[in-house]
Order: sequence, then structure tokens, then C-alpha cells
Amino acid sequence: MVSYSEILQAAEHIRAGRLVAFPTETVYGLGADATSPSAVALIYEAKARPRFNPLIAHVTDLTMASDLAVFDALSRRLGEAIWPGPLTIVLPKTVSCPVADLATAGLATIAVRAPDHRVAQALVEAAGRPIVAPSANRSGHVSATTADHVRADLGGRVSMILDDGPSPGGLESTIVRAGDDGLTILRDGGLSREVLAEVAGIPVSAIHTVDRSNSIGRAPTSPGQLESHYAPQAAVRLNAMEARPGEALLAFGPDVPDHSGPIINLSPSGDLREAAARLFAAMRELDATGLQCIAAMPIPERSLGIAINDRLRRAAAPRH
Ligand code: TXA
Ligand code: MG
Repeated sequence: MVSYSEILQAAEHIRAGRLVAFPTETVYGLGADATSPSAVALIYEAKARPRFNPLIAHVTDLTMASDLAVFDALSRRLGEAIWPGPLTIVLPKTVSCPVADLATAGLATIAVRAPDHRVAQALVEAAGRPIVAPSANRSGHVSATTADHVRADLGGRVSMILDDGPSPGGLESTIVRAGDDGLTILRDGGLSREVLAEVAGIPVSAIHTVDRSNSIGRAPTSPGQLESHYAPQAAVRLNAMEARPGEALLAFGPDVPDHSGPIINLSPSGDLREAAARLFAAMRELDATGLQCIAAMPIPERSLGIAINDRLRRAAAPRH
């Protein structure tokens, strides 16, 4: 467990413009002082992000978020009901928003989130400023849900890794933007659409999807054109009903086909929450077998299954 003195040390690194990897309830984040352009630049360098994807600013709560972003009534209701939690809200920046332009890729909007994790909360609090953090993996790789994943991907590039065990959620946050006609999902994630609809007081039909491959509002893409992302080294074969020789099997549910090679079952009981929590670690583990292909069994397209399938489709998409 992370001690408070470690958190203070990590906060010093942040304040000095260095990178710290820290756990959140969704995945591990690669954190930097959101107000420092040079610290933010280190993130892009460490992740080897091909372009300046905008980052999520992590705050302790709605009050701190209100310094960065202008809240409409619906977004405020969501923040009040769900934060701290796995929801990121995209909002117009305040005039006095202290976050570096590089972190928001020069957009007039900013993505904010209050994570529901003791260590993340204490780190932001101790740093005394918002912390921008993408998932702590090399760009395009599977997201990191343990400190070991972070070490494997970013080892020498971070000043400190706060190791507090596996992230309980396992999927990145759900990203939304509120509009006149309801909510638009920019990325499905750890908070399901049903929960969102209930909390927002709107029907699930008032929750729209723009584009799953890029959240900055490009035209919708069909699954075949999805940008490769969350990709292991191995190829990924979707909707597999069996695994072929030379493949690893990413299984789900009680009915698993016979297979002589490696198998990881995301949830033998068919529980989507359990599957979400295990997804990235399982992909990394199967990838480490060195086999050429991961055969992924079908996951139901409901609740957290929507986000799991999104990640699997991207992992299976043609690589650049
Ligand atoms: O659970 C999470 O969200 C994790 C933990 C560490 O908090 N973070 C995470 O960050 O997944 P990242 O950088 O891997 O994904 C952030 C996403 C990107 O797809 C980015 O395009 C989108 O948020 N985003 C950030 N700012 C945005 C904005 N102003 N408008 C639209 N999308 C934005
Ligand atoms: Mg990411």
C-alpha cells in the first residue's frame, strides 16, 4: 500500500515538473502538472504519442473542476452524482483556466475527472494543482492496470511509480459531452450507459455516440476503419468460437471450447464487471506467450460489454 510520505514525495516530483505514474480506479495514469507546458510535453515524449491528443485533467472534486471548466446544469448534475468516479466530462474551459494549452491540444474545451481512488485523490490534493494523466502505457499499447504494466511500458521514463495494486475497474473512464439533445458518449468506459441515463434523468435513447475511434468529433467510422489502439503485439481475432492451434484464447463465460494452448477466462461466470477489470492484464499476459494471435470469444454488447468490445475491436483493427 502506498504510504503518505510516498504521496508527498510524488507530489514534489509533480510540482517540480516531473512525471509520476499513479493508480486510479480505472487504470494507471501517467501524471504531470497540468499547468506546466514543459511537464505536459514530457508526457507526449514518454508515451511516444504520434500527435498531441488532448489529456484529461484530474481534480479532487466539482469545486476544483469549476476553476478549469464551465459547467452546464446537466454536467453539474453528473459531476455531483458520480464524482469521484469513472466519468470524464468535456466542457468549455474557463477564461482563467490554468491548464497548459498543450494539454488540451489547443482546444477551447477541457476533459475533467475526479478519480475515485485514495492515492489519486491524495496526490492531486498534495500537489495542489490539477494533474493531467493519460493511461500509463506506450501510445497504442494496451492500457496499464498494474504498476508492473507501467514499468514494462514506461520504466525509465517516470520519476516515480505509486504501486497500490491493480486498478479495480480495469477500463478507462467513460467520456461524455452534454448538449441540448442529451448526452454524447465520446468513449464508452467504466461507467455504463444505463447508469449514466439514470443519473442524468434521461432515457438511454437520449445518449448518442459520435465516434469511437477518435473523441474529437471526426465523422463516425465503421468498425473496419477503427484506428488501431489498445493493441497487443499479437493479432486479435474477434468473435472466436474456438481457438486454433498456435492461438491463445481469451475466453468469457462458462462454456469454453477445448484448447491445448494458453487460455485466460475473463469471467467464468459471465460477469461483465469482472471481465472489464481483467481485460488489459489478460491481453498483456496472453501477448507475453509470444503466440501470433489471440482468439477472443464474443462478449455481450450490453452494459460494460459495450466498452470491452470497443477495446477489443480496436485491438483487432489494422495496425499502422
Ligand atoms: O480512466 C481514464 O480516463 C484514464 C485515467 C488515467 O484517468 N485516462 C485516460 O486518458 O484514459 P487517455 O489520455 O488515455 O484518454 C483520454 C481521452 C482521449 O481519447 C482524448 O482524445 C479525450 O480523452 N479527450 C481529452 N480532452 C478532450 C477534449 N477536450 N475533447 C474531446 N476529447 C478529449
Ligand atoms: Mg489511453
